[in-house]
Amino acid sequence: MKIGILTSGGDCPGLNAVIRGAVLKGIAIQGHEFVGFRDGWRGVVESDVIDIPRSMVRGIAKQGGTILGTSRTNPFGDGGGPDVIKANLERLGIDAIIAIGGEGTLAAAKRLTDAGLNIVGVPKTVDNDLDATDYSFGFDTAVHIATEAMDRLRTTGESHHRCMIAEVMGRHVGWIALHAGMAAGAHAILIPEQKVSVERIGQWMLAAHARGRAPLLAVAEGFVPEHMETPHSQRGLDTFGRPRMGGIADQLAPQLEAITGLETRTAILGHIQRGGVPTAFDRVLATRLGMAAIHSVVEHRWGTMVALKGTEIRSVSFDEALGKLKTVPQDRYDEAAVLFG
Ligand code: F6P
Repeated sequence: MKIGILTSGGDCPGLNAVIRGAVLKGIAIQGHEFVGFRDGWRGVVESDVIDIPRSMVRGIAKQGGTILGTSRTNPFGDGGGPDVIKANLERLGIDAIIAIGGEGTLAAAKRLTDAGLNIVGVPKTVDNDLDATDYSFGFDTAVHIATEAMDRLRTTGESHHRCMIAEVMGRHVGWIALHAGMAAGAHAILIPEQKVSVERIGQWMLAAHARGRAPLLAVAEGFVPEHMETPHSQRGLDTFGRPRMGGIADQLAPQLEAITGLETRTAILGHIQRGGVPTAFDRVLATRLGMAAIHSVVEHRWGTMVALKGTEIRSVSFDEALGKLKTVPQDRYDEAAVLFG
């Protein structure tokens, strides 16, 4: 079979490990042939493909980003749609697609599968917000980077007797903030799932200060404090009309200074969390997902996604996988909040 691979949506550490896992497994079991679509669905719509020989995946598991490039192109947009894509695949002799992406990518993959295309999905999100998989690759790396950054913020905060706020990714869910905050010993963790007033955050800061600590806070970019009406985390739109995320830490800092009298500094980690080498955990998970995707292709399980369930990689239908955001449950937040003191 000739299998086309694409990476779509925001990049994520581990994408290259998925590609390598799929290609090596595919070559090993049945001598499949591989091509890559450049920049996600754009490459599918525009027939922009490159061959992926074995030599191309050598040593790439540890490489950040994606060797195929990515974009947020919608395959149903101008010039796209199932008929165009089917014709492209036929002309290129491509039998099946492995689509590596998040909710948007997988939703598009489902529509295309419903229209008769042969697609298998691999979940990708640093935010870890896809419900059907216990963990997604890239999350562990992002947590690792955020934890290290918070450890660094702690020492500078302590030296200056300041409060330090680390803003991490997480548009809709607070998994990165929760894990990095727990690991780094944050005095407050602020996530979209939990409405907390600015006054309450101030109390946590003052409690830490009273114990002689420099308050250290982890805030997810999608956090909205109680009583705040406007979505704070959108710093306007970019040239392409997409929201720029980030900025809640800078909005909170002056308000918290006013309440607590404590000098407060912020650090927005942003895309640093998505760049660079994946952790060993993410490399292994991504490799296993890539290999499992080949099994799904060989077994013609179109319209399904590979997912981590416990320690096993399983196959779930797009219907099962889509539309369910994995939010931080109350008990996980309460557990972390014990540490705020
Ligand atoms: O969905 C992952 C994510 O990293 C979000 O947490 C973040 O808000 C967003 O992507 C930013 O993506 P970009 O700037 O690449 O559009």
